[in-house]
Amino acid sequence: MKMITVIGSMNMDLVVDTSRVPENGETILGNSFYTFPGGKGANQAVAAARLGGDVHMIACVGNDGFGTELTRNLHEEGVDTANVSYSSEKSTGIANIILSEKDNRIIVVPGANYELTPQMIEGLRDIIKMSNVVVMQLEILPETVKAVLKFCDELTIPVVMDPAPAKYFEVDMISSIRYITPNQYECEQLFGLDLDEALEMYPNQLIVTLGKDGVRYFDGEKHIHVEAIQTNAVDTTGAGDTFNGALAYAISHQYALYDAVKFANAASSLSVEKLGAQSGMPTKEEVEARLAR
Ligand SMILES: Nc1ncnc2c1ncn2[C@@H]1O[C@H](COP(=O)(O)OP(=O)(O)OP(=O)(O)O)[C@@H](O)[C@H]1O
Ligand SMILES: [Mg+2]
Repeated sequence: MKMITVIGSMNMDLVVDTSRVPENGETILGNSFYTFPGGKGANQAVAAARLGGDVHMIACVGNDGFGTELTRNLHEEGVDTANVSYSSEKSTGIANIILSEKDNRIIVVPGANYELTPQMIEGLRDIIKMSNVVVMQLEILPETVKAVLKFCDELTIPVVMDPAPAKYFEVDMISSIRYITPNQYECEQLFGLDLDEALEMYPNQLIVTLGKDGVRYFDGEKHIHVEAIQTNAVDTTGAGDTFNGALAYAISHQYALYDAVKFANAASSLSVEKLGAQSGMPTKEEVEARLAR
C-alpha cells in the first residue's frame, strides 16, 4: 500500500502577456492569452503521478467549465479524482497572471478551494486512512489544513507540507508535520531565524529548497546540502511543486530521507527545462537516468 493523498488547491491559471499594464480606466490590447491547469495541490498531485505514484486528490472545484477541465486533466494524468467535489456556491479557483515587461502581477481568487471544509474531511476519513503519505499546501482553508493534520497525527500518517503561501502557516501546525519544505524566503517568514538556526531547530523535518542552489536540511549531527543539478533552466515555475510531489513519492516508497531529497532534487531539475508548471514534470525513468549521470 503506497497511496499518496494530496489535499489541496486546483486552479486555472489565466495568463495574459502584455507590453504594459493599463492605467486606471484605460483599455489596451494585450499580446497573448493562455490557460494552464495549476494550483499547488493539483501540480503536486501531477508530479507524484508522473513518477508512477498511486495518487488520490481531495479538492473542491466549481460547478463550471474550468472545474470540469481541471478534473479531466488530473484524471488523464492518472490521478484518482473520485473525491474532487463540485461546489454550487463558488466558481473554480483561478490565478489571474499578468506578465508585462517590468513585472508579473498575480491575483488569486480561491473560490471553490475555500469550500473544502473540515466537515468534508471528516467524511473522507476512510480514504485518508488508506494513505501512507498526505501532501498539503496552504491554498485551502487553514481550518481544513488543521483538521487533516489532527487526523493524520492520530493515525501517524506522515504529512509533507509545502507551507505556501507562508502567511497562512501557524507555528503550532509544525508538531503534526513530518516534512516541511519552504523555500528560503518562506523559511525566514515562517520561523524568523537565519537559515542555519532554523535547520538546527527542526532536524530531519525542515527541508529548505534554495532554487538553483539546491536543498538543505540538518540531520541532527551535521548540515546536509544537496547541490542542484546544473541544467539549462527555461521556466522555474512549478519547481517547488515537482520537488514536493517527488519527495512524497519517494517517502511513500520508503526511501531514506537523504535519498528522497536527492530524488526530488533531480526531479525538479528536470521540471525547469520546459515552459509551464506541469509540462516539465518527469517520469521515474527520467529521474533515475539523471541521477545515474
Ligand atoms: N535553476 C535550477 N536548476 C536546477 N534545479 C533547480 C533550479 N531551480 C530550482 N531547482 C530545483 O527545484 C527545487 C525547488 O526550487 P525553489 O527553491 O525555487 O522552489 P520554490 O521557490 O518553492 O518554487 P515554486 O515557485 O515552484 O514554488 C530546488 O531545491 C532545486 O532542487
Ligand atoms: Mg514553492
